[in-house]
Amino acid sequence: MTAERPGRAWVRPLRLWCGLILFAYLLTHFSNHALGLISLRAMETGRLWFLALWRNPVGETLLFGALLVHWLLGLWLLYRRRTLRMPLWEATQIIFGLAVPPLLVFHIVGTRLANAMYGTEDLYTRVVLFLWVDPWNFYRQTTLFVIAWTHGCMGLHFWLRFRGWYPRFFPLVLSAFVLVPVLGYLGFAEAGREVSALAREPGFVQRLMVETRTPSPEQRATLVRVRDGLGYSTWGLLLLTLLARGVREYLSPRQATVRVSYPDGRSVAVPVGSTVLEASRSAGIPHASVCGGRGRCSTCRIRVSGDPGLPPASPQELRVLQRVGAPPNVRLACQLRPSRDLAVTPLIQVAVSTGAAPASSAAHHGQEREIAVLFADLRGFTRLAEHKLPYDVVFFLNRYFEAVGTAIAEAGGIANQYTGDGVMALFGVETAPETACRQALRAAAGMVARVQEFSRSFGAELESPLRLGVGIHTGTVVVGEMGYGDTRYLTAVGDTVHVASRLEALTKEYQCELVVSEQVLSRAGLAGADYPRHELTVRNREAPLRVAVVAEARGLAAQIPADHARAGG
Ligand code: FES
Repeated sequence: MTAERPGRAWVRPLRLWCGLILFAYLLTHFSNHALGLISLRAMETGRLWFLALWRNPVGETLLFGALLVHWLLGLWLLYRRRTLRMPLWEATQIIFGLAVPPLLVFHIVGTRLANAMYGTEDLYTRVVLFLWVDPWNFYRQTTLFVIAWTHGCMGLHFWLRFRGWYPRFFPLVLSAFVLVPVLGYLGFAEAGREVSALAREPGFVQRLMVETRTPSPEQRATLVRVRDGLGYSTWGLLLLTLLARGVREYLSPRQATVRVSYPDGRSVAVPVGSTVLEASRSAGIPHASVCGGRGRCSTCRIRVSGDPGLPPASPQELRVLQRVGAPPNVRLACQLRPSRDLAVTPLIQVAVSTGAAPASSAAHHGQEREIAVLFADLRGFTRLAEHKLPYDVVFFLNRYFEAVGTAIAEAGGIANQYTGDGVMALFGVETAPETACRQALRAAAGMVARVQEFSRSFGAELESPLRLGVGIHTGTVVVGEMGYGDTRYLTAVGDTVHVASRLEALTKEYQCELVVSEQVLSRAGLAGADYPRHELTVRNREAPLRVAVVAEARGLAAQIPADHARAGG
């Protein structure tokens, strides 16, 4: 959505690095709070380590530099957005991120600035006492930390979620996301109890004021003026950004526009400089964008018709496209900013239209292609569903589909049908059959791994671990959009589909993870793979079909020749 123009590709990495520094700061801050669970003294000792880390020329330059750059780049990206339509999670992350600096001003002025100007010692004993006796201050501080932490966790999650190892560690990461602030607040509450007991001792508060060099009323008035000035400036800058967007939008009809056309006949005019994803969103056209337009997931990819003279892909876009083995006419909608009119076909989406206009593209009428078809099915799901409430089953299935759908998208395929607990996926709609077969085998390994992880996350709720059966076959099919109105979707029709489905059913009989046809193995460069072979008779085919029975999909995927690993092939 907010992809950079070529030449500004540094914006997101820089913002990410700044965010990581800020997250590290928050993590150490909460950990320091958590020491209150041991004692106030432990908290104060931890603070000395915390200050050694952050309150020195290098630490402070990094910290305040990161805060300023992260926020200013956030404002810049907000200004550059062509539309404010976005998923709820993305809006939450942006609002939280932009609100942090204006809310943080109070804390910075009361601690770091007071220390720099008047030598005030921001001992935990003093800060906890002030927050403990002033509920308004306490709630503001709590809100600030919750907002900042949530923003950081969301950023980290959406940055890491496409890494292969992440799903395995997700339960651990999620626990850390929740536990760190909870322990921090429990530590703070313990310290609050200890400090309020101390405060009842005669003369304690006065002594503390003197020892920590608490600012005099005049000094406090100065700090309040600085605080208000900074607070109003940050809120003002935020409002100014929104205002600047409004002015730009108001003037935008006079700007040059490009027209983006879709397979269902709709076309959208957007100002030059908008991404194709922004065009889809501004017109309310459903368009997959799992990573929120950050150029990481490839789910927004589109096929561009003709030769509209597209701007070259940035290195980041190229990397993602290579990973899924995309041909030259496929681009990421969130990164592509066309300068001329163009026709596009979103490649990963289910509902492709909001109108009932008949589609006229080649995709709608179908095209003959050699692709790899994958079928997967969850073993024992019917028995599992019998003992669950319908709402639980829906929750369970959605998480399962998310797990396998992500593995398919990561490998470069299109998950196009979810029926019951079964999934059908197509590989090779955009790539050569050899690439398609390797992608399908990698997807099978990824799906099995994700289902195992998913199964572990349900723990004792399951009588036995969930198991997936996968069948893969390759051959010529007709690929095209099917359906009507809102429910058109890309699918494949032909014997190859039936065979793949049959191979998936055989995994029950052979008690294995994967049954794959020899054609798939030979296309993938694995003709010699050493797995038990069986022969099947197949409708419309004279010679029997030889299939390999693979006990562990991961073992087979690991044998894919290394020179195909990088290009997504
Ligand atoms: S939305 Fe994820 S790459 Fe475009």
